[in-house]
Amino acid sequence: MSTASCDSAITYIDGDKGILRYRGYPIEQLADHSTYLETCYLLLNGELPNRAELTEFRGIIQEHTMLHEALRGFYKGFRHDAHPMAIMVGVVGALSAFYPDASDVHNPRVQEIAAHRLIAKMPTIAAWSYKYANGQPFIYPRNDLSYTENFLHMMFAVPTKDSRPDPLHVKALDLILILHADHEQNASTSTVRLTGSSEANPFAATSAGIASLWGPAHGGANEAVIRMLEEITESGNLKKYVDKAKDKNDRFRLMGFGHRIYKNFDPRAKIIRKMCHDLLQSLGDESTPLFDTALELEKIALEDEYFVERKLYPNVDYYSGIILRRLGIPLDMFTVIFALARTVGWISHWKEMMSDPTARIGRPRQLYTGSKERDYIPIEKR
Ligand code: CMC
Repeated sequence: MSTASCDSAITYIDGDKGILRYRGYPIEQLADHSTYLETCYLLLNGELPNRAELTEFRGIIQEHTMLHEALRGFYKGFRHDAHPMAIMVGVVGALSAFYPDASDVHNPRVQEIAAHRLIAKMPTIAAWSYKYANGQPFIYPRNDLSYTENFLHMMFAVPTKDSRPDPLHVKALDLILILHADHEQNASTSTVRLTGSSEANPFAATSAGIASLWGPAHGGANEAVIRMLEEITESGNLKKYVDKAKDKNDRFRLMGFGHRIYKNFDPRAKIIRKMCHDLLQSLGDESTPLFDTALELEKIALEDEYFVERKLYPNVDYYSGIILRRLGIPLDMFTVIFALARTVGWISHWKEMMSDPTARIGRPRQLYTGSKERDYIPIEKR
């Protein structure tokens, strides 16, 4: 809570002022002007690319988008109704077996190529986890599409029909990816660092990060928000849910509210709220019950003493789910998309740590609260 676990030059957050910067650039400016792939370059390399560097980076990422054909077989090993996050943990971890060279973790070239492979393959792995659950054929990546367009293509295309993702959908998803790309020492990134600190390979470390992200207190919140908003909209009883969230005897929390670091507002939530509004308007939605419920709930909570006192505000996940839902993305893929976006953050932190000559194995201390020394009692005397 109050001890820095590492030095890092990647992301700066001031939770009281609602500031988030990647490599010094305000998130608001990146959201307005950048693309996810350019943001990936920035996070990984520390600087924005010039045109030639970006073209080269795009080419490198496109070169690595395919999966080894043997990896296809892994999907068949899962139950048809497996949660796609379970598939992600397994398949990303399995990449270690396909790239054993990645164990040479202090080699800068190995670090670089592992980063490129992860950023490039994650959309394919994610989209295939969806296809598998739907019993549809896997769609191969296409190099003539942008990064985000290609992901939507692999999710929704079928071999029998020529289709191209709606540019409005591509723009909305690209923004969501930018906003989720990094967030300094959150639970999953700290997990990647801790796992990597033992010199485990980057695919194993990333797989550990995905496992950590899965929980509803972290990346799983975007899925939980929609379930909650649907329930509230259906019941028509908003107040009941606010009261439940305030009740100390009830474990229910307003999902998408509160943040360990942001105690004023989450700058990502501000951007995404506007994007949500603009997207629904551009797509000509006449009735937007979930968005209406979200706005109403936000208003009530922001005026309620309980939430004001505890500085609880909507976080990034509060509105992102509404956008994802509108793009036709099923609920159980929401956290997968968070994982896809955060991969660049995880691998940038891993790379930073592995390049640090002073880095040591992570080993948090504990406060022991157990028994004092006592003598062993034979079983017949217990
Ligand atoms: N609804 C109701 N009460 C809440 C909520 C909430 N969403 N969040 C915190 N509180 C209360 C909590 O009960 C506690 O009250 P008291 O002081 O009376 O005991 C107080 O606020 C402080 O909460 P905390 O649990 O100490 O705060 P934390 O920093 O440990 O937890 C959090 C942060 C994000 C896990 C938590 O706010 C939460 O569970 N939110 C809902 C889940 C969620 O939206 N998670 C996504 C986080 S943003 C995306 C990401 O980074 O993954």
